[in-house]
Amino acid sequence: MAQRVIVTGGAGFIGSNFIRCIINKYPHYKVINIDKLSYSGNLENLRDIKSDNYQFIKADIKNYALMQHLVDEGDIVVNFAAESHVDNSINEPEVFIENNVLGTHSILEAARRKKAKLFIQISTDEVYGSLGFDSKSSTEKDLLNPSSPYSASKAAAEMVCMGNIRTFNQPIIITRSSNNFGPYQFPEKVMPLFITNLIGEKKVPLYGTGKNVRDWIHVSDNCEAIDFIIHNGQPGEVYNIGGGNELQNLDLTKSILSCLGADESSIKYVEDRKGHDLRYSLDCSKIKSMGWNPKHSFDSALNETVQWYKQNSWWWEPLKNIEGRRTS
Ligand code: NAD
Ligand code: TYD
Repeated sequence: MAQRVIVTGGAGFIGSNFIRCIINKYPHYKVINIDKLSYSGNLENLRDIKSDNYQFIKADIKNYALMQHLVDEGDIVVNFAAESHVDNSINEPEVFIENNVLGTHSILEAARRKKAKLFIQISTDEVYGSLGFDSKSSTEKDLLNPSSPYSASKAAAEMVCMGNIRTFNQPIIITRSSNNFGPYQFPEKVMPLFITNLIGEKKVPLYGTGKNVRDWIHVSDNCEAIDFIIHNGQPGEVYNIGGGNELQNLDLTKSILSCLGADESSIKYVEDRKGHDLRYSLDCSKIKSMGWNPKHSFDSALNETVQWYKQNSWWWEPLKNIEGRRTS
């Protein structure tokens, strides 16, 4: 029987890029995308997928009975489904606890009861909390110290997974990646928000001093790393996945401005985010020692990403006006 891969949240940014990666690399795998299509879930992200081995099911991972029905013995389950934006978590924390914690528990339990072969929990570098400019990069052994309702919900989801690893010996792997960028990212996150504002000749809202540091990874490098972990990782382990491109937000903004021929007069300094983490930084020696490395160089990947948004306004223009979302 063909290997089945269940991808939750596959209509979102990283999930849709992951589905494309898996279908291209393993055309014989059966890929099942379970997504409830929240504001950031968009089937247009998968418009080019033509494979007969791909199936979309509109469903909420919180629906345990349905998840038990959908997961089969031997499946690989990759759990991307989550509320993903820190600013939204500050305004509406309960939605994050429901989807990210209870949702993970529901699909995890379905995977356990149905004897799924492997469960991959997609987590984030944000669970380590804020680092100082001179602190050492976070290793997988560091304590979790989340600072936003978003990162707290992702840390809690990891804890639910850890409990099942220890108690039931359930085959689970956790990945913690840094900030992804690339095509099909909902224009609430800093990179697509700034790029699409500038294409529309609007200013870009930079929080606080602009000194906060993020480590940027191209989404296809993260997808390759997740695929690498599925095929080479050890159940029960955690793997950091970073791009090795730490940048202050102001420097990132200057690079985006330069790609679009704009200057610093297009920056509007705005009030800082509450609890804004200063820096994330991942030590990726564990996964690198196994043979994975990111392939993209930051400057050319940023330039390609800017070109993609320039050429695909059909994709993001309708999203700029979604009610209740800050996309400019
Ligand atoms: P996204 O918001 O673009 O996509 C999330 C998807 O999950 C959407 O399609 C949404 O409809 C779906 N979803 C949400 N709740 C659901 C539920 N209860 N049932 C079914 N579907 C549901 O987010 P993204 O940026 O693609 O992030 C994907 C995952 O990667 C998340 O778990 C996030 O925490 C993690 N992550 C993201 C980044 C990043 O830089 N974007 C970095 C590290 C980790
Ligand atoms: P974001 O893309 O929201 O990702 P995360 O908070 O998960 O790292 O933000 C990346 C950085 O950009 C973060 O330090 C906050 C900052 N930022 C701005 O300066 N202005 C904005 O409008 C947004 C959305 C983010």
